[in-house]
Amino acid sequence: MEKLAIDGGAKAVTQPVPPPLHGIMDVGDEEIAAVTAVLRSQRIFRFLPGEPDEAAQLEEWYRKNCGSEYALAVGCGGTGALICALTGLGIGSGDEVIVPGYTYVATAAACLSVGAIPVLAEVDESLTLDPADVERRITPHTRAIIPVHMRGVPCDMDRLMDVARRHNLLVLEDCAQANGGMYKGRMLGSIGHAGAFSLQHYKVITAGEGGIVVTNDGNVYRRAAMKHDSAMFFWREDENWETFAGENFRMCNMRAALALVQLQRMPDILQKCRGIKRRIHAALEKIEGIECQRINCADGDCGIVAAFMLPTADLARRFGEALQAEGVPAGSIYNKLIPDRHIYCYWDYVMEKRTSDPSGWPWTAARRPIEYRADMLPRTLDILGRTIQVTITQHWSDELVDEVIGAIEKVAGGIL
Ligand SMILES: Cc1ncc(COP(=O)(O)O)c(C=O)c1O
Repeated sequence: MEKLAIDGGAKAVTQPVPPPLHGIMDVGDEEIAAVTAVLRSQRIFRFLPGEPDEAAQLEEWYRKNCGSEYALAVGCGGTGALICALTGLGIGSGDEVIVPGYTYVATAAACLSVGAIPVLAEVDESLTLDPADVERRITPHTRAIIPVHMRGVPCDMDRLMDVARRHNLLVLEDCAQANGGMYKGRMLGSIGHAGAFSLQHYKVITAGEGGIVVTNDGNVYRRAAMKHDSAMFFWREDENWETFAGENFRMCNMRAALALVQLQRMPDILQKCRGIKRRIHAALEKIEGIECQRINCADGDCGIVAAFMLPTADLARRFGEALQAEGVPAGSIYNKLIPDRHIYCYWDYVMEKRTSDPSGWPWTAARRPIEYRADMLPRTLDILGRTIQVTITQHWSDELVDEVIGAIEKVAGGIL
């Protein structure tokens, strides 16, 4: 048996691994030209009279590709998109919203921003919301569910929509990490009552910062738009606005121009990542003792992360360390030594119900006692503790993929 690199053997991966980033790594002359053209035109603000500007074109892309009646571009990221969507859906003070215990903290923060109470639910072996656990956590105060397509892997939308239908709940898809992902032929974001995308630096494609809300409901759209711009009714006088105080979450044309070029790159990014993930999964399936992440819709998976589970957290930690020594940037997801903002027990202001002022709102608006504990989702922590993840990018060469697979096989041979 080959000596593992962690024990002083030669590294399995001999070439540099590109950074775990996608669209931003492809920014080139086209993006520079598009942003420069907006600057030269001096039409940065989006609601000037005239042609459909870049922000409107960006919305049009999402409307068309999601098959949604309405799309709203926001300049302030997936968090802003979630806040606008929640506002659009009419979620507010004291309403309970079920969110997975494995998502970026922003999903819960967006609920709190509109006054809603995040109710945490378990993820399953797909690392996405477990529909059975969602159903267990429904109370008379529950208004909505936020399925999060984590690491580009679609949630089990059929079952989640069924739960929502039976309990009369709204569904807001958090697609921040899953731009371009699909579920049974439909673009993620278009299945629930609304969808929210992120266009920040770390996502499949980027506008620098930015996000998109999609929905088929004109009322949801108008409320979301009102939230995104406190003067929305001035820019679009033709709409029938229900006015209330909004923020300034507007998208500007420079960011939209950047995103429009990046959208053209997205099919290629996804196709390459999906192909690499398929190869890695095919190799993993042959290794005894390794269980691949369950994928709810393989064709729609963005392919940006390969994840697999080991029998115990201790094995996963050792496996992750050995893989890193081989030159693979991988690790177990839940490792008590490394706080991760994507795991609920590290969301300190949620766990401790902290607020920006002494009022304690919105927890004071909760309609029943709500408590959070670091060990409240044992299944989520167990699964995450046993899961190793490797971020794939479109810039992995065939040789690098071969070496990464070789490294996983080598470590499995030495440790399992
Ligand atoms: C699942 C998820 N939801 C929401 C967000 C928030 O997006 P943004 O950082 O663009 O506000 C992120 C960003 O990392 C995310 O990963």
